Amino acid sequence: MEERIEKLRKALNHHNYQYYVLSAPEISDFEYDTLMAELIQLEKEHPVFFDPNSPSQRVGNDSNQNFLQVKHKYPMLSLGNTYNEADIREFDQRVSKGLNAPYQYVCELKYDGASISLTYENGRLKYALTRGDGEQGDDVTNNVRTIKSIPLTLAGTGFPKQFEIRGEVFLPHKGFKQLNQERDEAGENLFANPRNAASGSLKIQNSALVAKRPLDCYLYYLLGEELPSDSHFENLQYGKAWGFKIPEENKICKNIDEVFAFITRWDKDRKDLPFDIDGIVIKVDSISQQRELGFTAKSPRWAISYKFKAEQAVTRLKGVDFQVGRTGAITPVANLEPVFLAGTTVKRASLHNADIISMLDLHLNDMVLVEKGGEIIPKIVGVKTEGRLPESERVRFISHCPECATELVRNEGEAAYYCPNEKGCPTQIKGKIVHFISRKAMNIDSLGEETIELLYSNQLIKNVADLYGLIKEQLLPLERMADKSASNIINSIQQSKSVPFERLLFGLGIRHVGATMAKNLAKAFGNMEALGRATYEELIQVEEIGDKIASSVLTYFSDTESINLLTKLKHHGLQFEMEKQELLSTKLAGLSIIASGKLQHFSREEIKSVIEANGGKAVSSISKLTDYLLAGENIGPNKLKKATDLGIPVITEEEFIKMLGS
Ligand code: IVH
Repeated sequence: MEERIEKLRKALNHHNYQYYVLSAPEISDFEYDTLMAELIQLEKEHPVFFDPNSPSQRVGNDSNQNFLQVKHKYPMLSLGNTYNEADIREFDQRVSKGLNAPYQYVCELKYDGASISLTYENGRLKYALTRGDGEQGDDVTNNVRTIKSIPLTLAGTGFPKQFEIRGEVFLPHKGFKQLNQERDEAGENLFANPRNAASGSLKIQNSALVAKRPLDCYLYYLLGEELPSDSHFENLQYGKAWGFKIPEENKICKNIDEVFAFITRWDKDRKDLPFDIDGIVIKVDSISQQRELGFTAKSPRWAISYKFKAEQAVTRLKGVDFQVGRTGAITPVANLEPVFLAGTTVKRASLHNADIISMLDLHLNDMVLVEKGGEIIPKIVGVKTEGRLPESERVRFISHCPECATELVRNEGEAAYYCPNEKGCPTQIKGKIVHFISRKAMNIDSLGEETIELLYSNQLIKNVADLYGLIKEQLLPLERMADKSASNIINSIQQSKSVPFERLLFGLGIRHVGATMAKNLAKAFGNMEALGRATYEELIQVEEIGDKIASSVLTYFSDTESINLLTKLKHHGLQFEMEKQELLSTKLAGLSIIASGKLQHFSREEIKSVIEANGGKAVSSISKLTDYLLAGENIGPNKLKKATDLGIPVITEEEFIKMLGS
């Protein structure tokens, strides 16, 4: 019996591949259904042979699932974006400089869907994760099993024992139209675009419903320790032989002019594709060269995306509002006569700053050119002055804060106007609290902007520390506050005390300190006290931290009001230090080490963790505070010279390994 089951599974996998990946079916739907019916029957009779990766499982399952958060083995980064030729040339120059050897590119289409990471072990789909925040994603394996073009078991031979393959789950135009039509008939909300529909589909709790959505998936990136080739392009061709749907459009480009030719071709031909693309991705082909170029905090240095020009529409400017952000920055927002643009109706658009307004010489009631690219908020990029009436009024930037009437200021070198009344402007005070509770910070999800507004206007809170002193009895008299919601609020505030230090640091809203920088600072200093004591010199040692952020951190910690706030937060028991990482040893304790060039035994990420796991600090720029330069192959001459000039010892990989004693 087992044999028959295996045989059916194999046959169904094969026909599935012919149909969904190659679009070249060899049997009729009826024959396929008959094989499937037999398999389902046999599996039902012999439950010992259950296999989650059986083709019968592609229909999904009705039971509600919760998505577990799983850490990515390799972080899922995004790509740097460009919109013009000059940027691409600059990218090419950086690559050329970074490599100092011949190289070639692979050009690919940039699919507009939801990214997915699939892990295979011994030729079987182990799990599928969404991108999430890049560090950890949702385990959506059950839903992904229903996507017919994703192989559950691999064909052929020669695949690594374990590897990851990444790609884009998307809805082709036809499937998108069909889905929205069904939703319309059922009286449900329509999806704005295929991308939202794809990412929404991956998060449905009932996988049987996902199975009904015509999702598809192109794979564009392999990761693992034992990939068959050093060429990214070739690895994808191997992937194709194992059963993955690999785009046919991928093309090796020997130089940047071939890249431009690819871009020009697809900017024209994309209209004829049966799915959305929003640009082109350009990757260095050689994996070892990719490794050599490495990553910035956010994206690889070996790849870039070229985004096609956004769609535009013309409409009338009805007025301009001025909004105050949590840092006091004033954002002008245009109110528009509603216009349909790239799949949605646009009523408001960003005007960026005062310079843009005066450069455009905007007048009320002007006909303006609105542009939207992907998820980005639409913006005004031009104005048609022809029909302007002589009496129409010029749009003027305000001189005083619309919330607290304080005179606005403009810092030298910055485009934005600020309301300097940081401590008294109610909008800024509330904005800071809203930032503090947000998902990437303290993630207090029972509180929202409206509740913060309510708590603030009832004088229950005036800063983030006050949240922790709230008691249920104070909330109950508030408008529309049920007993249950009050308990939820108090509970989730209390629970947030265990949110890790780096997220608390981000939540404080120190100017220019985003989530990534907060993480870097937390890692480098380990706790709030050490960070508060850090000097400018020490701060700019930290990965990605430059003058602007260092100065802002110093300003924050020299302000008595911040110190008072921190004292209160500490008193309430929030996390003021990093969770202790299990150290492998303390052999590198107190040492700042910079690694550069290509190493034999470690990737860029690995060497960092090895240094840290042995108590050292991995830094990314040389200064007199650096203790060692660990020099790999092809290390840049400038780095070496700087180290020698500063008298910093240069060590080889072997010497480094000796320092670890292994
Ligand atoms: S490569 C480390 N290739 O674009 C680089 N990405 O910001 C990994 N995307 O989230 C990405 N088509 O979901 C790559 N051919 C392609 C792509 C592609 C679409 C998406 C991907 C990622 C985003 C990059």
